[in-house]
Amino acid sequence: MSIRAIKGTRDILPPASAVWNEIEETSRRVFRTFNVHEIRTPIFEETALFSRGVGEETDIVSKEMYTFDDHGDSLTLRPENTASVIRAFIEHRMDQIPGVKKLFYIGPMFRRERPQKGRYRQFSQIGAELIGSDSPTVDAETIELVDTLLKANGVHGARLLINSVGDPESRARYIARLKSDLEKYIGELSPDSQRRAVTNPLRVLDSKDPQDQPIVEKLPSIHEYLNEACTEHFAAVRRYLDDRGIAYEVTPRLVRGLDYYTHTTFEFLHGALGAQNAICGGGRYNGLAESLGSKVPAPGIGFSIGEDRLVMAVEEARGGIPALSLPLFIAPMTEAAFRKGALIARALRAQNIAVEVNAPAKMKRLMELANKANARHTLLIGDDELANGRYGLKNMQTGDQQSVAEADLATLLTA
Ligand code: HAM
Repeated sequence: MSIRAIKGTRDILPPASAVWNEIEETSRRVFRTFNVHEIRTPIFEETALFSRGVGEETDIVSKEMYTFDDHGDSLTLRPENTASVIRAFIEHRMDQIPGVKKLFYIGPMFRRERPQKGRYRQFSQIGAELIGSDSPTVDAETIELVDTLLKANGVHGARLLINSVGDPESRARYIARLKSDLEKYIGELSPDSQRRAVTNPLRVLDSKDPQDQPIVEKLPSIHEYLNEACTEHFAAVRRYLDDRGIAYEVTPRLVRGLDYYTHTTFEFLHGALGAQNAICGGGRYNGLAESLGSKVPAPGIGFSIGEDRLVMAVEEARGGIPALSLPLFIAPMTEAAFRKGALIARALRAQNIAVEVNAPAKMKRLMELANKANARHTLLIGDDELANGRYGLKNMQTGDQQSVAEADLATLLTA
């Protein structure tokens, strides 16, 4: 039997790969305009980084990690990148650089989830972390950055949900209240929520199980438990979003699936994605650095856009994947014509023009190949053309053909 790609992983082939590249180029350009610079961290890390950073009781750590033994060390393929970025931040003493440290990443993450449309076991995230400030101004900038990235990629109409999960003190009081409320209904909850009611009661709030909904609706809102500082932080974030004209929906049940969050959490949802409709998730994590051993506080906030889902939304916005197009196909009819064609190609490529040179063949065959390559122009070279130094340049859309000198080619092709 032939070997196939592993379940939940995929090959991205042309022309789809061109959409990925374009999205990454656009995103890098947007990051630069926000003074956010790239960090590249390893694909695997010590398992303890994620169990401590993301949280033992989360779905990610308790059942989705690809963990392996490496001669006695427990290592894990990164299921997300925030913990790694903070690890690098601490390791390289980035706290000593003044100002907010703004880092982005683009790359694969690994979670052993049940594969379905928009959900893979290897998927890619485009994310950023803004570290070193607990000011709500940075929360607003982070959310604005996501909004700008989505729109720069042509994705409009994503819904922004925001919430505050408070600081550890407010949250502890809220969790105590949730625990006691959930105890009353424990028998009516789904099996998953029964377990979470004990291990991680906040997670019951975003249960998708219809059985849990009537109970979830009866639970109090976390906003009733936020202290004054948390309430003011959240109000400031909303104020700064209002200033920017960024619309949002306050969603008290948005607690998110990772344990490191404090204060602001947010998600962007997109209609074209079906059940897996979160195109981006993020939030603030003021205590994460300390929980990973930092002696100095490094409050931060960040987000990750699911690139696979962004690609789906971009393709939907464009009505499909555009065919790759080629500026010039060189069609030589003889060996001598081919040798000249290769030199013409070499000169044009040096001027950044994409060119395909075929091996010598019959005219009919060459035109078929040029059409298949989606060439915008074809350059016909036969012995006559070689002799008089003028070539037949055919516009593949109109069918018009003109006789051109090599020196004029670049200008004609880039016009
Ligand atoms: P997350 O919500 O776990 O957050 O993931 C962020 C995004 O990654 C999701 O909204 C989704 O678009 C995409 N994603 C997650 N799992 C999959 C999957 N199995 N297949 C395809 N796409 C997926 C984080 O990862 C946090 N690190 C976000 C963050 C950064 N918070 C603060 N800084």
